[in-house]
This record gives sequence, structure tokens and C-alpha cells, in this order.
Amino acid sequence: MSENHLLGNYNRYPVEFAFGEGAYLYDHQGSKYTDFLSGIAVTGFGHAQPDITSAVMKQLNGVWHTSNLFDSSGQKTLAATLAEKSGLDKVFFCNSGTEANEAAIKFARKWGNGRYHIITALGGFHGRTMGALSATGQPKLWNGFFPLVYGFTSVPFGVIESIKSAITPQTVAIMLEPILGEGGVIVPQNGYLKAVKELCEEHNLLLILDEVQTGMGRTGKWFAHQHDDIKPDIITLAKGIANGLPLGALICSDDVASVIKPGDHGSTFGGNPVSVAAANAVTELLTDEVLAENLEFGDYFVSQLTELSLPEVLDIRGKGLMIGIQLADGISSKTVAGKLLNQGIVVGTSGDSVIRVLPPFVISKSDIDHFISTFSAVLAGAEAQGVAV
Ligand SMILES: Cc1ncc(COP(=O)(O)O)c(C=O)c1O
Repeated sequence: MSENHLLGNYNRYPVEFAFGEGAYLYDHQGSKYTDFLSGIAVTGFGHAQPDITSAVMKQLNGVWHTSNLFDSSGQKTLAATLAEKSGLDKVFFCNSGTEANEAAIKFARKWGNGRYHIITALGGFHGRTMGALSATGQPKLWNGFFPLVYGFTSVPFGVIESIKSAITPQTVAIMLEPILGEGGVIVPQNGYLKAVKELCEEHNLLLILDEVQTGMGRTGKWFAHQHDDIKPDIITLAKGIANGLPLGALICSDDVASVIKPGDHGSTFGGNPVSVAAANAVTELLTDEVLAENLEFGDYFVSQLTELSLPEVLDIRGKGLMIGIQLADGISSKTVAGKLLNQGIVVGTSGDSVIRVLPPFVISKSDIDHFISTFSAVLAGAEAQGVAV
């Protein structure tokens, strides 16, 4: 098997993990890695979490799939929890964040009854299918895929005036991430989301918040917008919701839900019983104590790293366990991430200059201390060994 038949759409590190436990991963040679990425903000409760594993095993021994033509008590339980935690009313299940956003776009257009235009953020990310890609305000991701879906305008993130001036009589919704994730972990100024919500009320627009990355406890609240004390009309979720099994969700108000009739939208696999069993276990684990600790540990990470005043670091930002480290000009985030991997630490990147730190909620303060000493050593030029980067 010398030939690799995998399509070349990913840049992969030449490391394969054989198993994981909590915040740690092990490769086939038995080398240990500390996970500061969580499979890109997915495995919040770590690897092989016993309660989630046993809920999944129980479901695997029952039914794997029956389709959405039949009743599902698992989906009903999960929907009730999501409704309660968000203060919204109805839930649609799908398989990914992209699909949740596609549903949001369709539901907003149906609700708009002829209005179709959606304002999104430059630097935002909502997925790779044609609707979600058109909502994604990153022109570099559009190249080669024109024409985009009609009816989206991306404006500078965090600037309320730029949204105001993009509103037309056809505008139906504003669609944003509360914190840009793929776009570099950009936290808007306090009051921005509240001002966007007010604008929506003034112009009868829906507020769609893409909490695919920020949701399910990552920032220290169930949903990141809850730091701003506002309520959107639609929330989209995926990633952490089922700790690694594929599941997406859209939560919306009764007002939005009322326009969607049988046959308007659907998915064969959406809300699969095994993924839903995992997600119900996740919701039980996501206690107030865990949320508080995510905030505390995030603050600890930022303050410890800030204290070092490393000349190679221009900025450290984020909320809870969603942290971006902006490197100084000329230092490649990919190179630093590769060197950290060689030293047994898994991180992500966004763009050429930001290291993305998205640890599982089970990370400890000593893991954070270990990260910080390894990170500063790598930046200081400590020679990496092992895989080439
Ligand atoms: C904010 C946001 N929305 C949507 C997506 C797409 O989600 P998925 O890859 O599950 O389709 C992502 C993925 O990174 C994301 O970060």
C-alpha cells in the first residue's frame, strides 16, 4: 500500500494517534501528546470519557439508525435541554456545522417571505458547501468556486456601522460568529453583539449566531452570546455537541420554526441515535462547575503566558478555553505548531500567524504550565526532533 489514494485537500501531519485518554493522545509508537486542540474544538470532555463511551455503547447495542420517519425520545430529550439552556424553542438536528448553517440560511429565507439578503462578517467562517461558503467572508476560500450563492454581503467584523450601511429592503438576517474562530480568534468589543441585536429589532431582521465553535461550554457559558446577555433568533451548533461523533443542531424561536413545514428540509442521518446518545451524555456533564472552570483555566492560561512577555508573541486573546496567540511578523504559525507537535503538544493554527489553543475541558493547570514552558522553549529556538515541518 505505498500509493496514497486520499484526495489532497488536507495538509496532514505525519502522526497517527492510536488511542486517547482524557487530555492525552498516544501514537502507534506509544509517544504521549497533550491535546490542546480537541480535534478542533470537538472533544471537550476529552478522549474515551467513560460516561459518554457507555452511553454510546448502550445505543450501539440497541439501534444505530432508523431515520427521521420515526419517533426519537433521544432527540426529544436533547432538544428539550438545548431549548432550556438557550431560552429558544425548537431544534432541528443534522450532521455538521456546515449543515446547521445551511438550514439557518434556508429557514431565514422562508421566514423572510421574499426577503433573502444575509449580512455576514469578513473573516467569518460558516462552512464549505455553496450556501455556507457564500456566507463565509473569506475571499481566499471562494477562489475557483464561483459563482457563489446570490444574496450575501460580508462586512468588517466588530463594526456596527458597517452592518447598518449594508442593510437593504431585501435583508432578512445578520449571521455572525460571536467570536471569529477560523478567522483568528477575534473577540469583538463589549456591546457589539447587543448593538447588532438592537439593529435586528429595529429592522425586523433575524439574528443568526453560529456557535458551532464557541458553543457547548467552550467559552465558559453554554453559548458564547450569553456573555452579552442577548437572545438570538437562531443558533447553530456542532463540533463539541457530541464529543466527536457527527452531529449538528439548529435551535430557533417559535416564530422562525412556525414557517417550516414537513418536507421543507431534512436529513437522512441528522440526529442519528448514536450521536444523540453521546450528546445527551455531554449535556449531563456540562455543569455550572465545568463552565466556571473553563473560564478560570482560560484566564490562567492567558495570564501565565502574558506574564512571560515573550517578544515573539504580539497578542493573546479569547474567552474561556478558546484562545488565540498572535505571533510576531515573520514567525510561521504552522512551523511553531509542527515544532510543538514534535515536543508532544497538539495545537491548531488560524492563518499564517495565529496559534489556536482549544484544549479539552479536562485539561489541568499542570498541563497548561507544561504547554507554556514548552511553547516558550520552542519560540526561543529549541531544536525540534522527529517529524519534519
Ligand atoms: C464557526 C464555524 N461554523 C461552521 C463550521 C463548519 O462546521 P463543520 O466542519 O462541522 O461542517 C466551522 C468549522 O470549523 C466553524 O468553526
